[in-house]
Amino acid sequence: MRIKASLASLSALVLLASSVSSRTVFSALSVNGVDQGHGVGIRVPTSNAAITDVSSNNLICNTNFIQPVSTAVIKVPAGSTVTAQFHHTSAGYVGPDPADPLDPTNKGPALAYLAAIPSATQSTVTGLKWFKIWQDGYDAETYQWGSDHVFINKGNVSFTIPSCIRSGQYLLRAESIALQNAYTYPGAQFYMSCAQIEVTNGGTASPPTVSFPGAYASNDPGIITEIYNVESYTPPGPAVFKC
Ligand SMILES: *[C@@H]1O[C@H](CO)[C@@H](O)[C@H](O)[C@H]1NC(C)=O
Repeated sequence: MRIKASLASLSALVLLASSVSSRTVFSALSVNGVDQGHGVGIRVPTSNAAITDVSSNNLICNTNFIQPVSTAVIKVPAGSTVTAQFHHTSAGYVGPDPADPLDPTNKGPALAYLAAIPSATQSTVTGLKWFKIWQDGYDAETYQWGSDHVFINKGNVSFTIPSCIRSGQYLLRAESIALQNAYTYPGAQFYMSCAQIEVTNGGTASPPTVSFPGAYASNDPGIITEIYNVESYTPPGPAVFKC
């Protein structure tokens, strides 16, 4: 009887564990529909585990990258559409998987940021100044989250690189946040990678910036949130920069 009970609670625990981890990795970028290849110009984390500490430097570009890290810098004309490709693991798409690109029962926003950087391949990512270029939070009319769109689009998350920003090297930080556990902190799960890009044909704009870590606070309403019965939701971080 005792053994039975503990087996039952063990399987309940396993079920719980599998349902609370979204686990997704951004590992490839397309530019105007042209796929640059898996891991090309991307710092791909080895693990699909979440970052949960908003004060950690690992929140910037993730950690424990697949080695060697790509030395490619992807050329992106300002104003072009890029697609960040998310998949369940760091291997990218490897075949049918009900949790690819993420577990569809897990809900939350998707976001994208840029930071100018002296060299897009430099390993140091602290001290950069970030601005948000896109986000997909929650649509109260369709009841769909950004994560639902990520799932429907098979992991392809598309947005525009602002046409007015300066030419030069940048890190592109694309992020998926899972909020099903975010009723307390730590609870929200942050999944991000950084792509190494060079913006060409840019303009002269200087967007207002934020820091990572720093842009997200542990008591941010976009980070401590109850996703069930939600009426509206504002993703964490600054407003989206528009030219
Ligand atoms: C996602 O993007 C890749 C690379 O550009 C493309 O091959 C694939 O067809 C896209 N999938 C969907 C569902 O749009």
